[in-house]
Amino acid sequence: MAGGAFAEAGADLELIGISKRFPGFTAIEELDLRIPAGSFFALLGPSGCGKTTTLRLVAGLEEPTTGRILIGGKDVTNVKSFKRPVNTVFQSYALFPHMTVLENVAFGLRRRNIADPVGKAHEALRLVELDHLAARRPLQLSGGQQQRVALARAIVNRPALLLLDEPLGALDLKLRRQMQLELKSIQNEVGLTFLHVTHDQEEAMTMADTVAVMNRGQIEQMGAPEELYELPKTSFVANFLGQSNLFTGPVTSSTGSSIVVDVAGVKVEVPKDRAQRHAGEVTVGVRPEKLMLHTSAPKQSAGSNSLGPGRVTDVSFSGVSTQYQIAIPGIGLVTVFAQNMVFGPVVNLGSAAWVSWSVEHGFGLLDEPERAPRFAADTDTATIAMQTRHELLAEIEEA
Ligand SMILES: Nc1ncnc2c1ncn2[C@@H]1O[C@H](COP(=O)(O)OP(=O)(O)OP(=O)(O)O)[C@@H](O)[C@H]1O
Ligand SMILES: [Mg+2]
Repeated sequence: MAGGAFAEAGADLELIGISKRFPGFTAIEELDLRIPAGSFFALLGPSGCGKTTTLRLVAGLEEPTTGRILIGGKDVTNVKSFKRPVNTVFQSYALFPHMTVLENVAFGLRRRNIADPVGKAHEALRLVELDHLAARRPLQLSGGQQQRVALARAIVNRPALLLLDEPLGALDLKLRRQMQLELKSIQNEVGLTFLHVTHDQEEAMTMADTVAVMNRGQIEQMGAPEELYELPKTSFVANFLGQSNLFTGPVTSSTGSSIVVDVAGVKVEVPKDRAQRHAGEVTVGVRPEKLMLHTSAPKQSAGSNSLGPGRVTDVSFSGVSTQYQIAIPGIGLVTVFAQNMVFGPVVNLGSAAWVSWSVEHGFGLLDEPERAPRFAADTDTATIAMQTRHELLAEIEEA
């Protein structure tokens, strides 16, 4: 921080051709990323995909094997960690237990001989709504309050770039949601650049302007949350960010604006501008909440796709909606989220059902179709249960 002093505003972050190899393991591969100043950027991905490694590279705690890191247009690849205009909030709060909350927040300012450390610390504490507890010690605070102190301690330094590594991981769901909103409004207020790492897709989608979905050390897709959700490009993104129903088949024809895919003998139409590929074997998908459930065969109509009949194999009620699993012969299990409305259809376990969706809601993926079929051809529940049992037994035997 010393070199960067106090930032008035956020700074751009640019990663150019970054890779990081640990002995015997490549954690990051050819990563290119540009985060504009003042944005709230989320790096989302499963455990072990390289999120923390990316943050550590930006913070200067780790050296890249190849590539360059620019902050505010300045190359900091060889700049020491403490000289970068960056602050990090880790999941463990690391507050000084013997100091008051106020002294914890003012500590960094005092060390750097910044004017009015106490006034500035109070201001940061007001931002996280904890100024009334300034005189307490960290151990006299709840986990969520300690988390907010850690945040105040980071933003009081006015880093041009704030790195957040799963900072809400330890909080319960309700507090977590509340802190998400708070963090977002703090970021709006101070205008700094936030790079937030999480494996919680809902957290990434509610907080960030831009989400990058990371998989095995690479970014699979990046964009505004709605864009990623509405138009995933790979099956990994389609299933990591919410749920998707995916079907694979050859493209058999195409009209001016759509492609038609043969899914186990059924024609499924997808708009060309929502499909990444227009020929060969393609995987197409539709989100569960875009599906309509029918208890009799829906009328064929232009602009709509339908599948069925199948059998309802699972019904689970979750308050605002009900999730149905429909096993459709030759196609597999299809998931439907139906809002619980007063006059909604009630579909019982075991009954026959059809699904339909508007063509404009489908999407087509870039991936090569998966080698192994995603579903067994026979979707009879008993058969699935038996297969699972056999797989488990095989696994146990191997172990
Ligand atoms: N010092 C190291 N030496 C060898 N491998 C490492 C080292 N640090 C991290 N890795 C490996 O690099 C990969 C990425 O690790 P990283 O900590 O970035 O994951 P992550 O995305 O933050 O995961 P999580 O969500 O579990 O925190 C992991 O497979 C990890 O085992
Ligand atoms: Mg991590």
